[in-house]
Amino acid sequence: METALDDKHRGRLTKDGIRIYEADDFAGMHKAGELAARILDDMSDAVFPGQTTGEIDRIITDRVHAAGATSATIGYKGYQHASCISVNHVVCHGIPSEKVLKDGDILNIDVTVIVDGWFGDSSRMYVAGKLSRKAERLIQVTHDALFKGIEAVKPGNTFGDIGHAIQAYVEAHRMSVVRDFCGHGLGRVFHAPPNVLHYGRAGTGAVLEEGMFFTIEPMVNLGRPETKVLADDWTAVTRDKSLSAQFEHSVGVTATGVDIFTLSPAGKFHPTWS
Ligand code: MF3
Ligand code: CO
Ligand code: CO
Repeated sequence: METALDDKHRGRLTKDGIRIYEADDFAGMHKAGELAARILDDMSDAVFPGQTTGEIDRIITDRVHAAGATSATIGYKGYQHASCISVNHVVCHGIPSEKVLKDGDILNIDVTVIVDGWFGDSSRMYVAGKLSRKAERLIQVTHDALFKGIEAVKPGNTFGDIGHAIQAYVEAHRMSVVRDFCGHGLGRVFHAPPNVLHYGRAGTGAVLEEGMFFTIEPMVNLGRPETKVLADDWTAVTRDKSLSAQFEHSVGVTATGVDIFTLSPAGKFHPTWS
């Protein structure tokens, strides 16, 4: 049977192996992205001191299934949860557990859903209780760095322009960009070319074309950029134990700029916005 394969392999590939989707495909990405964003909106009320990350993940799992969607992460390379929840110095891929959140903890919740075969991948920051000044600064710079990257998305610009915009902004604030993890193409698949680096030189890398779908998901550390993966083979932490933050949107390149698939319907993308 070739139909399933053909469906995934619609459109054409650029010389860099990046898939160019059709105008109709934007609607599918919007539906998937909106579900991921709605679930993340609902998690604002689920984050508080005393809560466990395992309970947050159970709520997310229920929301995904209640929507008739599929979690892209359950079963992905052996991962068993509907979200990654990365607390404080955890950079990404934190595994939900029965560990209890305490006042002042900051956390990233990352959700990827599949709706009608399309992948919606987004993450954002939350705080349990009171946000400290230094965590607030980190979160603001990371959020704004994502949008510096998004502003660089238009046909004719390059992936290096995106990485450069993010890196320049973060380093101007004396924070560091994680090099060990990157964004990725997505669409009918979870992870596809290109690797979307959050650092780099302007004018380098593949040229952006209308119809490319990918994530931008910078991880920013208050200290040094180096990370290590714990013995569970998933949890990535800062080597110097400094705080880390991340925001992620799934986007598409339009004729004139960018279409963000994972915008928050409730306007709650940033933890201090309600
Ligand atoms: N959602 C993550 C990303 O942004 C990937 C998580 S894979 C998992 O690409 F298996 F750790 F869940
Ligand atoms: Co992603
Ligand atoms: Co993600």
